[in-house]
Amino acid sequence: METVVSGIRSTGNLHLGNYFGAIRNFIKMQHEHRCYFFIADMHALTTHPKADHFKESVRNVLVEYLAAGIDPDVSTIYIQSDVPQIPELYLLMNMYAYVGELERCTSFKDKIRKHSDNVNAGLLTYPVLMAADIIIHKATKVPVGKDQEQHLEMARNFVNRFNHLYEKEVFPEPFAFNFGNELVKVPGLDGSGKMGKSEGEGNAVFLADTPEVLRKKVMRAVTDGGPTEPNQEKPESIRNLFQLMRLVSTQDTIQHFEDTWNNCTIRYGDMKKQLAEDMILFTDPIRERIKEIGSNETYLNKVIQEGGEKARESAAKTLKEVRSIIGFTNY
Ligand code: ADP
Ligand code: TRP
Repeated sequence: METVVSGIRSTGNLHLGNYFGAIRNFIKMQHEHRCYFFIADMHALTTHPKADHFKESVRNVLVEYLAAGIDPDVSTIYIQSDVPQIPELYLLMNMYAYVGELERCTSFKDKIRKHSDNVNAGLLTYPVLMAADIIIHKATKVPVGKDQEQHLEMARNFVNRFNHLYEKEVFPEPFAFNFGNELVKVPGLDGSGKMGKSEGEGNAVFLADTPEVLRKKVMRAVTDGGPTEPNQEKPESIRNLFQLMRLVSTQDTIQHFEDTWNNCTIRYGDMKKQLAEDMILFTDPIRERIKEIGSNETYLNKVIQEGGEKARESAAKTLKEVRSIIGFTNY
């Protein structure tokens, strides 16, 4: 049995990218491993230092996690800010992270471009907090999407530096995990490459989107003028549509549209209609559960209380060890 940790920032509703990049794998692992899943509300502050409806966002993400299939009876589900050992370990790990490597991190460079009015120190040390999230439970497997690969590499660097300095295998190395396969990158609908909640209107399909909204978004997805010769290579926007189809449609459906692409009879309208219906079929049960779980306040409170307790227990063990290794006095 290994320890698994993953998390998602509470900056918005869950979309298919989050689901297929991170949550689906987590769900597949929860019966075999020691699994921790959390809502990264502290990480959310790096880009949204004073978010409107902060509490509601956290609650919505929690409801959507549970609706998507994360089971609090087998996994530990908690809110990052409910575990004070995480920010303490983050402070300590900051001493083993170099400013140079943090500045070179792609996600930092990306974020300072997007949030040039708020280049705070939290953005720079984002990967350190993420490492603390993971190593506080001594996790080895981290189910995440492709965009998180570099963060995991940095976490391994911090861990190795710490272990080396104290000449002790305190933390195991954590790795991004997708059952031995290439990490997932779900494309968006606007031809921009990645599905993401901050990529702009119409790019992301949310688990909570109603069928009407979902249909509209998919029908507006970017396409091109169509193939002009048989078996032509697909441009990016069309490759993206096929990639989305591979996530939710049957093999027969995919083959049908592959064939029509190859013999130049493809009609993008038909393909998008089919894709939208298959996405609706896929998200329907999740949407139902969102309604059901979202109205059960007692249950949600219980999940959060119990998850927090279990997470703190595991975190306290690690932090005690780290404090003792560093040499802090325990009165
Ligand atoms: P967003 O990018 O929408 O802000 P987060 O950064 O909170 O979402 O991502 C949470 C998790 O979902 C991470 O594991 C991330 O890798 C994964 N994820 C987000 N978008 C995608 C995507 N388009 N494809 C694959 N995984 C994704
Ligand atoms: N950085 C991740 C993201 O934006 C969220 C995250 C924070 C995370 N801490 C984590 C993911 C620990 C996995 C493990 O998507």
